[in-house]
Amino acid sequence: MDVTLVTTNPGKLREVRALLSEFGAVVRPLRRALPEPQSDSLDVVARAKLAAVSDLRGWVLVEDSGLFIPSLGGFPGVYSSHIYAIWGLDPILELLARRPRAAVFRTVAGLRRGRTTWYLTGECDGTIATSARGSGGFGFDPIFIPKGSRRTFAEMSETEKGVVSHRGRAMRSVGEILAESKK
Ligand code: IMP
Repeated sequence: MDVTLVTTNPGKLREVRALLSEFGAVVRPLRRALPEPQSDSLDVVARAKLAAVSDLRGWVLVEDSGLFIPSLGGFPGVYSSHIYAIWGLDPILELLARRPRAAVFRTVAGLRRGRTTWYLTGECDGTIATSARGSGGFGFDPIFIPKGSRRTFAEMSETEKGVVSHRGRAMRSVGEILAESKK
């Protein structure tokens, strides 16, 4: 079955495509800039993104993700994409020089078909590395070490990242809904 993923982020597209292929879904990308309302909740942003693509038919998927660092009051959180675009990685590493390094990646996926919508979440606990390492993935991957690993996401293969990542967890829930609908 076909699923339209609305995103401008090629890293997300690559990961979602691989994760949902496990459930027999073919992801068709649609590049459209979506609203990011001022809110400290990924859920609110995911709902706004899904509302902005109400013209699309069939299975429609959006997702909003962010990196939340408790010792920075949850920053960059819902502002992750802006902060990454403006700052890159170094200022986060500097801010954490004398602060606890725990962090969590979160995803909220919004899925719609017809009048039915689902919101699926995924989380990945970890820590922020002391320096950027690895060349895989995208965004904050070179500085995020998932719990139970010594490697950053950027030092893992896409498959390894997907097993433990926030997006992997959310997309497996999406995949279950897609698979269930075929029965
Ligand atoms: P948004 O979901 O489009 O608002 O963007 C979230 C931003 O968080 C991305 O632009 C990345 O900078 C960052 N991000 C989200 N997921 C990941 C990930 O899996 N790895 C690294 N950075 C991520």
